[in-house]
Amino acid sequence: MIIAIDGHSSCGKSTIAKSLAKRLGFTYVDTGAMYRAVTLFCQQNNLIQNGVVDEENLAKRIGEVSISFALNNSTQLQDTYLNGINVEKQIRSMEVAHDVSTVSKIAFVRKAMVEKQQEYGKNANVVMDGRDIGTVVFPNADYKFFVTASPEIRAKRRYDELMEKEGKANFDEILENLKQRDLIDSTRKESPLRQADDAILVDTSNMTREGQLEWILSKIQL
Ligand code: DC
Repeated sequence: MIIAIDGHSSCGKSTIAKSLAKRLGFTYVDTGAMYRAVTLFCQQNNLIQNGVVDEENLAKRIGEVSISFALNNSTQLQDTYLNGINVEKQIRSMEVAHDVSTVSKIAFVRKAMVEKQQEYGKNANVVMDGRDIGTVVFPNADYKFFVTASPEIRAKRRYDELMEKEGKANFDEILENLKQRDLIDSTRKESPLRQADDAILVDTSNMTREGQLEWILSKIQL
């Protein structure tokens, strides 16, 4: 069984997808982590400078990018590996976040990632989260959910998270960045973010985390 979870940045998709996979005993695949790992590969190999990707050389070397996931025993979550090295922490950095929209716009990068994602779905029950899972990667997924929340609520959640982790955050900056990422993700030429016609909309603006999970579980018949 394939469960596709797409949606806007910072709307809580991955939290939902992880807890859903855990409850159902399915494999969780974080496709955003894959685009982040390719971005890190570009940065490590000087294939991106000042936001401009050296597409010719990246195209030659994309075959060298090997991405895998393995369980981290202390967090009980999957860590991302790039060519055998654990890059989970690095791919969540602001530096990677800054370039990932640019790298994930490139058609041949998307093609390589989509093939890999489709492989994951061949032999296992998966919950996969991303932007194009229900529209491009698995148009015939058993269940498709499209998660969203108002930009202000998403920014507030991110603000609270940063305040807790780092003790400082700027609400207006976060809100602006979210709106900018929404715009890039939904207007790009390759696989723009959009709700699949048959996806179930989950607006988490007024739902707790537990409420979101229970609501989604109530829609799934195993
Ligand atoms: O979900 P995330 O924030 O970790 O995703 C990082 C970036 O990757 C985001 O800018 C959009 C892109 N992405 C994508 O284009 N397609 C996907 N299936 C998943 C993520």
